[in-house]
Amino acid sequence: MYRKITRLDGRLVGFASSPRPLNGRSIVTPFKADRLKSYRLNRWFGNCTTKHASDAPRTIFSGIQPTGVPHLGNYLGALREWVRLQNSATEETQLIFSIVDLHALTVPQKCHMLRGWRKEMLATLIAVGLDPNRSTIFYQSAVQSHAELYWILCTIASIGYLSRMTQWKSKLQLPDDVTLENPAARSELRLGLFSYPVLQAADILVHRATHVPVGEDQRQHLEFSRNIANTFNHRYGQIFPAPKALISPARRVMSLKEPTVKMSKSHSDPRSRILLTDSSEDIRKKIQVALTDSEEGVTYDPIRRPGVSNLLEILSHFDGRTCEELVSEYQFASLRALKETLTGQVSDNLAPIRERYLQLIANKGGYLDAVSEQGAHAARANAEQTMSHVRNVMGL
Ligand code: AMP
Ligand code: TRP
Repeated sequence: MYRKITRLDGRLVGFASSPRPLNGRSIVTPFKADRLKSYRLNRWFGNCTTKHASDAPRTIFSGIQPTGVPHLGNYLGALREWVRLQNSATEETQLIFSIVDLHALTVPQKCHMLRGWRKEMLATLIAVGLDPNRSTIFYQSAVQSHAELYWILCTIASIGYLSRMTQWKSKLQLPDDVTLENPAARSELRLGLFSYPVLQAADILVHRATHVPVGEDQRQHLEFSRNIANTFNHRYGQIFPAPKALISPARRVMSLKEPTVKMSKSHSDPRSRILLTDSSEDIRKKIQVALTDSEEGVTYDPIRRPGVSNLLEILSHFDGRTCEELVSEYQFASLRALKETLTGQVSDNLAPIRERYLQLIANKGGYLDAVSEQGAHAARANAEQTMSHVRNVMGL
């Protein structure tokens, strides 16, 4: 059975007959897919015993929740790195990116909103530069092995470790030192939110990921994933590589309105974040009202001048120069001039993304559905290789 693959403009670019992406390169035929499958299997599992892991080809995996249009923090902290990794990857590197819709369910969601956000996130990933013919892009819920491995990992995950992690506390707006004994925790905390890191570990391990590009806030989840991989391997044999976090140089992009907290999708003031779909006018307005201070001149001092320092950091991520280098150029300039330069840089960089995003969303030819189907097919095949080993070593 062949499916048409068309470009955004509707031009036919090929046919898909089976999951593409075992080699992440081109749309492949069933025959080729099988051969590649066994090649990949031997390559990874073979490498575990015969070669040092650092010689093994890389598998890069990351995920993002479909909970709204990504902002500048998501872009600089994660998405731009995904694209860079994709564009500089060696041919053997496997690239897999997931829209983690099951994770989004750990806080209450409205059905029609979630459905829309999933699609918008897929359009965004392509708009920022992920190429579905190079990277596997898929909805997490379309690949059931994620949930299966999650359950298996639940049987070894430590409640003590999970209770010390911060995600459930911040989502419930509880202090970092709160314990499970806390009355609010006892009444509000749901098992899905508490075990969020276990599902994240399953996402990573089911694809035998070696490298996981994320923002600084995900470091703890990566540490947990490595820990659970080691525990599993210790008990059942060398199945999972220990995944390494690749932390983006843009560790924490801060809120424009409250520059001591990170830019986030959930801040009550929409002017605190620049969305990838914002127009140049929206961007100009948001940067213009970004909170700074009354001091004259431009200096880089994140503790004393968090607002100005955040603007300098964002500028440096686009401009390529360090904050210190920027300060030597702008030290005598007004904050207004700094904001104008930043507005120009952000608008110029985001405009092509926005344009492509709008085209993708307007496309009624089923392009996004075809991409997600192709991605799910490939991700299923890849995850299934891991699961058959996992089931085997566990006696299932
Ligand atoms: P989330 O929106 O929480 O699903 O995050 C998606 C990705 O963006 C993760 O890799 C985060 O680490 C990264 N990220 C989110 N917010 C920021 C921020 N303000 N600065 C840098 N990275 C961020
Ligand atoms: N927890 C991540 C976030 O909030 C999203 C995520 C889920 C993820 N599974 C993942 C990131 C696996 C990297 C790898 O941003």
